[in-house]
Amino acid sequence: MTKAEAEKRIEKLRREINRHDHLYYVRNRPEISDAAYDELRRELVSLEEVFPELATPDSPTQRIGAPPRDELPSVRHLNPMLSLESAMDADEARAFDTRVRRALEREDIHYTVEPKFDGLSVELVYEAGLLVRGATRGDGTNGEEITPNIRTIRAVPLRLTTKRPPVRIAVRGEALMPLGEFQELNRWMTERGESGFANPRNAAAGSLRQLDSRITARRPLTFFAYEIMLIEGADPPDTHMNELETLAGWGFRIDPHKKLCRDIEEAISFHKELAGRRDGLPFEIDGVVIQIDSRADRDVMGYRTRSPRWAIALKFEPRKEVTTVEDIVVQVGRTGKLTPVALLRPVDVSGVTVSRATLHNAGEVAKKDVRPGDRVKIERAGDVIPAVVERIPVRGARRRKPFHMPTACPVCGSPVSEEGAYHFCTGGPSCPAQFKRSIMHFVSKGALDIDGLGYKTVEAMVDTGTVKSIADLFRLGKEQLLKLERFADRSADNLLSAIEASKTIPLARFLYALGIRNVGEHVARLLAGHYGSLGNVMKATEEDLVGIREVGPEVARGVARFFAERRNRDLIDELRSLGVRITAARARTGAHPLEGKTFVFTGGLGNYTRDEARRIVESLGGKVSSSVSAKTDYVVAGTDPGSKLARARTLGVTILSEEEFEKVAKKGR
Ligand code: IVH
Repeated sequence: MTKAEAEKRIEKLRREINRHDHLYYVRNRPEISDAAYDELRRELVSLEEVFPELATPDSPTQRIGAPPRDELPSVRHLNPMLSLESAMDADEARAFDTRVRRALEREDIHYTVEPKFDGLSVELVYEAGLLVRGATRGDGTNGEEITPNIRTIRAVPLRLTTKRPPVRIAVRGEALMPLGEFQELNRWMTERGESGFANPRNAAAGSLRQLDSRITARRPLTFFAYEIMLIEGADPPDTHMNELETLAGWGFRIDPHKKLCRDIEEAISFHKELAGRRDGLPFEIDGVVIQIDSRADRDVMGYRTRSPRWAIALKFEPRKEVTTVEDIVVQVGRTGKLTPVALLRPVDVSGVTVSRATLHNAGEVAKKDVRPGDRVKIERAGDVIPAVVERIPVRGARRRKPFHMPTACPVCGSPVSEEGAYHFCTGGPSCPAQFKRSIMHFVSKGALDIDGLGYKTVEAMVDTGTVKSIADLFRLGKEQLLKLERFADRSADNLLSAIEASKTIPLARFLYALGIRNVGEHVARLLAGHYGSLGNVMKATEEDLVGIREVGPEVARGVARFFAERRNRDLIDELRSLGVRITAARARTGAHPLEGKTFVFTGGLGNYTRDEARRIVESLGGKVSSSVSAKTDYVVAGTDPGSKLARARTLGVTILSEEEFEKVAKKGR
């Protein structure tokens, strides 16, 4: 292909891909399959590789992120980015309307009402239709330049979709992370031991302010445009409704929940309507923005220092998750970790009554400055434990003394040690709290899965001295159980047979049950799969352990130390002598080590045909798919990989070389 031909083809591909991106990410109406789309991208990537001089900043291939930068430079906004005055209730909105009618000396004022997005306010600058800059709001005058990060957001056009773009425009809008994607991201991060984000707004801000835009590219952000802050070489639209239409015509995503209202009462009703629909929306909004529709009227109204006189944000009632901290107590975990927990006046958070919320550690309590008696905002994201998001200052309130971590364990009185951000009780299993929690863990679903042993029962068993070590669980007799308040004939029999049934246990579950620091279900399965028997795991040195894929130095140290301890080895011997039988790993995990894993192959493999590779994966319980999505676990890249590789990088999917794939395949056999 000659360069001229390539140029033509590249242009055509870019137009096509941009059109499909727009259909998919802005209009939500895709026209082609993922596979067909991948094919277009693959062709473009390879053409740009052959003719690097034809690469341009608005090419869709630029959306995968650029190499990291040293800092986010400060930039001055073309026009100050103002904020909005807030109205807390309908009457404050009516007062705004009175001011407007008085100033305009007219009664028939039209207002536009639209959601107030709870994301990150962003300025985008386009010159001759080309995106040249993106910046955060910052202090309104100066923001941080985040152009490479902005380019990764598919809902942001890299080039305006209009034949005759204005000389220069500045567009304002909100970058945000939809709720579903936010939860997915948090789950993904949590599974990998990262701490996740407190809410979608933090997730959006954290993602956009990355120095490495390749990370931003993997974050599912979207963008809604709502204001043309500057336009050169063309007239500004005469009404806000037309302004939104213009933005849509340029290729921006605008939100459909907008309404032109004939007076303030209509605006207030629409606010109420949206408040009712708030929980059903796929992203967070915290109120509505009410603005005069007509530009001419806006010009008459003018501005205050930081906000326009022609608009107001009418907030929603704060969600019901604001409540009072009755007390802050310290909970002793299984490993001795001390967690400050806020005891709350019970409050309904989206259908669930919450009366406790974690404060994580002493540093968090200090940072959020939460004290008993304070008003706080509580959040329950997905199925995680409720957390205290922030303190809500109450004017004039007298506050109690700040909270401090105790120097002795509140349960057993042992000294407390500090490790990094955390505090630990040094009592070990002699601390009743640690002991009770390790029993709870030992019998939990992923471990021995013994039904009928709730916390209250375990507490009674430990407090009465019926159970003094984990092994005692297997020595329990009916007589003993009946002496405990909670048991009758039938429930005692049930528990005893549940305990009996739990005695035969696959290695992975047993390893998890032991409660070794940093060994969750996933790591336990890895160890079981790798070593096959408990004896082998016990013999493994720290060095051996680190050699296992996905096992890091901390986990390795934890495992080696655990089995080096005499009392742990004794416990295992004791359990065995009481009839606990640990079955080899292969039966459960070994035969299907790739169970639930999805593979995608791209490029040519040296040692296998595609069919052979597929059979290997399937024989190990995995699946092979033809296109890469967020659900893909591994992309195996052979020679001359296509756009699937780029997509895998974009989505943060693990990429394997053929050799690595072979290792995975061999391990399973
Ligand atoms: S209009 C002159 N419309 O809310 C200001 N703002 O203080 C024009 N926001 O950070 C802003 N959704 O970025 C407008 N639909 C919307 C909005 C919106 C969210 C943000 C704005 C600012 C804050 C208001």
